[in-house]
Amino acid sequence: MRADVLVRGISQFVTAEGAEPKRGAAMRELKVVQRAAVAIAGGQFAWVGPERDWNGEAASIVDAGGCAIVPGLVDPHTHAVWAGDRLADFEARLSGVTYEEILAAGGGIRSTIRATAAATEEQLVALARPRIAALVRSGATTIEVKSGYGYAVEAELRILRAIHALAAQAPAWIVPTLLIHMPPAEAAEREEYVAAVCEEMIPAAAREKLAQAVDVFVEKEAWSATEAEQMLNAARAQGLRTKLHTEQFHRMGGLELGARMGAMSVDHLEACGAEQVAMLAASATVATILPGVTLHLGLPAAPGRKLIDAGAAVAVGTDLNPGSSPLFSAQMALALAVRLNGLTAQEALVAGTTNAAAALGLRDAGRIEPGLPADFAVLHGADWRELIYTMGANPVREVWIGGQKAE
Ligand code: NIG
Ligand code: FE
Repeated sequence: MRADVLVRGISQFVTAEGAEPKRGAAMRELKVVQRAAVAIAGGQFAWVGPERDWNGEAASIVDAGGCAIVPGLVDPHTHAVWAGDRLADFEARLSGVTYEEILAAGGGIRSTIRATAAATEEQLVALARPRIAALVRSGATTIEVKSGYGYAVEAELRILRAIHALAAQAPAWIVPTLLIHMPPAEAAEREEYVAAVCEEMIPAAAREKLAQAVDVFVEKEAWSATEAEQMLNAARAQGLRTKLHTEQFHRMGGLELGARMGAMSVDHLEACGAEQVAMLAASATVATILPGVTLHLGLPAAPGRKLIDAGAAVAVGTDLNPGSSPLFSAQMALALAVRLNGLTAQEALVAGTTNAAAALGLRDAGRIEPGLPADFAVLHGADWRELIYTMGANPVREVWIGGQKAE
């Protein structure tokens, strides 16, 4: 075999095997290859295995210096495009006002919608670029980015266009999602807005290929499960996949809707109960947990341990956003998932790679396997578990995306 690059001198690499999401105990089954090498050709892994088994030729050779490598992390849930800040909310919350109270008073997400409306598309891209760069430095090579701070049909489509402009410049693979975040403040206007989402916003996003999935926020201060169902059905009719933000503060039927509709994922789940855990375990829907929100808002942790023990497929994301999770590290999201949600290091690795890919409907991301894009992170240490163990310093030394070292 002739490769473009051979990365040798790898102490060990770790990967889940196979594209299917891993459920329950299978989330602990990892392949660990010691004293390894990976060969890259045309941006893909061409060969991976113990270094002593390599007998091909490579145009160039890179020595990993005895460090471990892990698959490029997949961040399956971010809101990386926003303008303004939420520092006043943060201060208010520190003095006892809750996130929901701020939102109910017209602040929170609605204030970010106002600030985002005042920025040009170029400004939005410029603001998002360093956020994506931070996620990449933390090991992320595939990153979902949601709209959701637009509100009006044209404003939401503008954010999706900004996400596409960002994707063209970003070192990572970007997966765009249309998020239907906030309803009109006036109850009387909700029906008309839902109609505009179903008849204009979603069809335009599908026609212009601006999003691969539609996400709806089901919550007391946002949408009911009935309204979400209408909008997600419109998404399906346009050939788009579905996701939900649900059970963040209350159980309102969003999780049941997601499981019943075969949504790719239901995300948040801090308020999830035993019945919902069982329902997810019996469904094909990935349970995406967001420990940055637990830390930043002081919410109960989503029942990660219980979900896995019941047999569900769990993914972990940063939920990078200015209000509920200013977490700019996919690595730290995994480090938090073991501390706050009770995952093991092996489960966290799977949750941040192959299961996170499944939450985005991707089969070719998050694994070290011939034929897949050569996306991986080289750690500083020789043991892959440093990825999950480390807090506050970056255990990732370098990141390769599509066979190229990200600068
Ligand atoms: O995932 N919960 C709803 N949406 C976002 C928060 C957005 C914000 O606070 O700006 C979330 O937590
Ligand atoms: Fe979110």
